[in-house]
Amino acid sequence: MSYSSSWRSPSNIALIKYWGKHELQLPRNPSLSFTLSACHTDMTMTATPEQHGSLTVLFEGNPKPAFENKIRSFFSRIDTYFPWLRNSAIVIDSFNTFPHGAGIASSASAMSAMALCIKDIDDQIHHRSIRDTAWWSQVSEMARLGSGSASRSVFPTAALWGISDGVPSSSDHFAIPWHQEVHPFYSNFEDTILIVKDDEKAVSSTVGHQLMELHPYAGARYTTAKENLVRLIMALKSPDLIDHFITICEAEALHLHALMMSGPNPFVLVEPATISIIKEIWRFRKENGIPVCFTLDAGPNVHLLYPASYKTEILQWIRSALLPFCDKQEFIEDRIGKGPEKLSAPVSHHHS
Ligand code: PMV
Repeated sequence: MSYSSSWRSPSNIALIKYWGKHELQLPRNPSLSFTLSACHTDMTMTATPEQHGSLTVLFEGNPKPAFENKIRSFFSRIDTYFPWLRNSAIVIDSFNTFPHGAGIASSASAMSAMALCIKDIDDQIHHRSIRDTAWWSQVSEMARLGSGSASRSVFPTAALWGISDGVPSSSDHFAIPWHQEVHPFYSNFEDTILIVKDDEKAVSSTVGHQLMELHPYAGARYTTAKENLVRLIMALKSPDLIDHFITICEAEALHLHALMMSGPNPFVLVEPATISIIKEIWRFRKENGIPVCFTLDAGPNVHLLYPASYKTEILQWIRSALLPFCDKQEFIEDRIGKGPEKLSAPVSHHHS
């Protein structure tokens, strides 16, 4: 008897950044993200109960032993709740729609997809089928144990993770859905991702989080993040507050990278082209009054956020003014998405 589950789970882009953690992936400050759509992971997990456990990881159709350690350590954090993980032959097969390690949170889509597959297989084993609010909180909590930001990938439109002032239902253990708190003006935003460079990151987010524990500005950062979150929650309720949205969003991106540059072991993930693009965004916005702003992940690529109604003008401007700064003239046309989706067939069928 084998069990199998396939899910598509999206990446997400944080507006308020999670940077700094303690214990088992508990955040030092709350974060809020938009859920993406085009950037996602398709995953199939198969579990065959047997005497001894084994793990086989395939990525884009090929064996990927490099991912095994991270997955094993994830399993060891959750296998008291899912004991079959220890004595099953597990095969994980996945595909990403975006370059691995390019600062697009691939761990968020992969770890949330894995949490969904595990939870779904567990439901099959126990003949359960209800996916209620508690079910999604549990998936978010599992995903968090795989990668903090993954906790935010399981909800449509937007998610809030971490204890937040004025939000009694918020938790450090799992993200909560934020869809209903976002005005449709924002939930129709595009996220066009300019791939400045698609190399592997020089410094992993794991190391980045660790360095925050010794960071001289850590206290000030966590206070600022909490304040920015309260202001962003307000802004997301009204199109009239778009200027606040833009200010907070860009400040958060710059803070994240300023923290990297000012820590005990400084590092720089932005490229000269990243800065050139930011300056061009500021010039374009001032000149044309179009509400487009940027955010950055832990890498050099620039996420451009704007209302879908401006897409034609913005894509034209991207092609003429921004793509020359990108290594391979590449960009991803993403937008705010609807959250994970259960797939009806194993992933290899989709891509072979
Ligand atoms: O989930 P991690 O440990 O890869 O951390 C993600 C950190 C950032 O992407 C930089 C910010 C965030 O909130 O997603």
